[in-house]
Amino acid sequence: MVNKTKKNIVLGITGGIAAYKAIDLASTLTKLDYEVHVVLTAEAMKFVTPLTLEVITKNQVWTDQNSLEKSSIPHIKLADLADLVVVAPATANTIAKGANGLADNLLSSVLLAADCPKLYVPAMNSKMYQHDATQRNLRDLAVQGAVVLEPAEGMLACGISGKGRYPGNKTVLAQIESMLFGDQALEGFNVLVTAGGTREAIDPVRYIGNRSSGKMGAALCKEALRRGAHVTLILGSHELTELPEVNIIRVETAQEMYEQVMLHFDTQDIVIKAAAVADFKPESVKEQKIKKTEDTSGGKKTKTISLEGTVDILKEISLKKDKQIVVGFAAETENIATNAKKKLKEKNLDMIVANQVAGEESAFGSDDNTATLYWSNGKGRELEKMPKSELARVLVEEIIKLPKFVKLAR
Ligand code: CTP
Repeated sequence: MVNKTKKNIVLGITGGIAAYKAIDLASTLTKLDYEVHVVLTAEAMKFVTPLTLEVITKNQVWTDQNSLEKSSIPHIKLADLADLVVVAPATANTIAKGANGLADNLLSSVLLAADCPKLYVPAMNSKMYQHDATQRNLRDLAVQGAVVLEPAEGMLACGISGKGRYPGNKTVLAQIESMLFGDQALEGFNVLVTAGGTREAIDPVRYIGNRSSGKMGAALCKEALRRGAHVTLILGSHELTELPEVNIIRVETAQEMYEQVMLHFDTQDIVIKAAAVADFKPESVKEQKIKKTEDTSGGKKTKTISLEGTVDILKEISLKKDKQIVVGFAAETENIATNAKKKLKEKNLDMIVANQVAGEESAFGSDDNTATLYWSNGKGRELEKMPKSELARVLVEEIIKLPKFVKLAR
């Protein structure tokens, strides 16, 4: 069990109707033995009082007014002691301040002075949330390294329905714990990653292959390692340099990858199949190099190679799956959502990462990826284009949030 007693959370509450939900968040965090230091903006004080939060957290509650009365420069003190700054709920105004480095009240000053991780929980009217300015500010916050939770959809305080609701304290708490302890969350866990492309020999010099570079798999290995996992990588063709500390098993064909996955599967907790596996292989491999003169008929050179199906590794895993969390990828050129959801179901996956693999936006070989995640409960999450290293972080965070992982971690 991780010792949470010494973690200091600065909880910034800003002026929206969801501010009352932050009282419950402060209470839960305090009960979980976190030291909670609340900073209220002037607008937040129209919704909640310092006294309520002081009684709940048993700590001084900071406001613009009392921060000026004390001589101790509280914004720097709070910024220095914080292991995490949480802004919940975060209004469009405070988001804009955070994104642009404004420091005209205590909370925005703390946000500017703190170099610890920061979490924003936006909650506002859906038009304010969707506005280009807010979306740009949220993107800027993410670029600065802050984590921004997505608001929920539903009836808003202003009487209209849309995206902008406070996502709920269960979600906020899971994110806080993941940010505070995420680095160690995979300690003691075995993670198996497959990556790269497979090659199916046609003759001694030719093969059927694909454009997979293995970069996504490598990013996942690094992220899992960073979080303390023991990582095994079953690697096909690739463009990688080196991955110290990863147990790398090199394979060429789908059959070899299948055999290695099966050999290691039972001892794994999490299996992430980022490899691009050939679905077909030549029925027979020619012993000698095929000559170009062989099949010339009617002046037109043609060559027919008979193919047979390879084993679907993920499908085989799904038959063996027990405690393991299994995550697949879907490489699609069209109907991405429909095809990915079909694979999720047919391969009995806990989560699937759908990628576009055609045209300029293709994930294959690129350093970036634009992915959409789907879960077996029908939910999805569309992600923006991001570096594969960042996508790996998001994916591992989503894995850690799976109820199955939470059970495994207990
Ligand atoms: N996969 C696998 N074994 C195969 C083919 C694919 O384990 N023989 C895995 C891939 O590693 C990936 C997922 O299945 O995690 C989906 O792969 P993808 O190539 O997108 O789909 P396929 O199942 O091969 O179906 P199709 O080619 O028809 O889209």
